[in-house]
Amino acid sequence: MSTIQIKDEHGVRIITINRPEKRNALNLEMYTALREYLIQGDADNAINAFLIKGQDDCFTAGNDVADFLKNSDLGPEHPAFKFLFSLLDLKKPLLAAVSGPAVGIGTTLLLHCDLVYADESAKFQLPFTNLALVPEAGSSLLLPHLIGHQRAAELLLLGESFDAQQAKTFGVINDVVANAQLQEVALQQAKKIAAKPPQSIQATKALMRPDTTALHAKMTAELKEFAVRLQSDEAKAQFKAFLNR
Ligand code: COA
Repeated sequence: MSTIQIKDEHGVRIITINRPEKRNALNLEMYTALREYLIQGDADNAINAFLIKGQDDCFTAGNDVADFLKNSDLGPEHPAFKFLFSLLDLKKPLLAAVSGPAVGIGTTLLLHCDLVYADESAKFQLPFTNLALVPEAGSSLLLPHLIGHQRAAELLLLGESFDAQQAKTFGVINDVVANAQLQEVALQQAKKIAAKPPQSIQATKALMRPDTTALHAKMTAELKEFAVRLQSDEAKAQFKAFLNR
């Protein structure tokens, strides 16, 4: 069974992260597939919106920690790097449905989404400093801009988890929906967008896009520092501690 699955329905490409035995932790192959499905969908006239989701008890536990140890050479050709930059080029709206853990890139990815729905089980976390790392995906720029410096500093420096109600208050998500309805609500919103005039939708998304030059520069700076941290003894010790729990 593929770890990234797609289904195209009424103009919506539904992308499901499907590695439940590892709490949907993202490995290199999964980043590559995610990027390819987004690029393909962006070029396909039959697709007008994307919806990314996990299962009804897990969005994603973030980057595969074992991969942090095995594939710690984070250059421009690294699949995670390429996936993150592909988000900046996406022309069509991206929606997300979040249940359970949304850790690391599971939360920073949401800052690139247009609409995000979560249920009461959702738990967001940016544990970069806990792992002796630094923020990625432009979150050190996007999060302070979205929620203010002090609140972003709390989330990025302390790395504690926050729940769906807090995420809604922060404006990181649009709404909290009951678990049983989450997937359907998110899909209906995606279908509504997909049914609208596509050129108008894409032009609206383009106009709303933050300054990509600044974001691109920030993401590059973050990933440069991330690559250094990844090789550090303090980070390696944290990864080993998690894997040997
Ligand atoms: N990378 C690799 N494996 C992971 C993983 C990750 N990010 N997250 C979970 N797993 C694996 C566990 O090692 C475990 O594997 P095993 O059964 O072979 O031992 C399995 O997934 C289940 O994880 P577990 O921790 O038992 O699930 P849980 O429901 O109790 O907790 C989380 C879920 C997400 C809270 C917890 O797994 C976690 O904190 N994961 C790490 C998150 C993280 O630091 N991500 C990197 C961010 S930069």
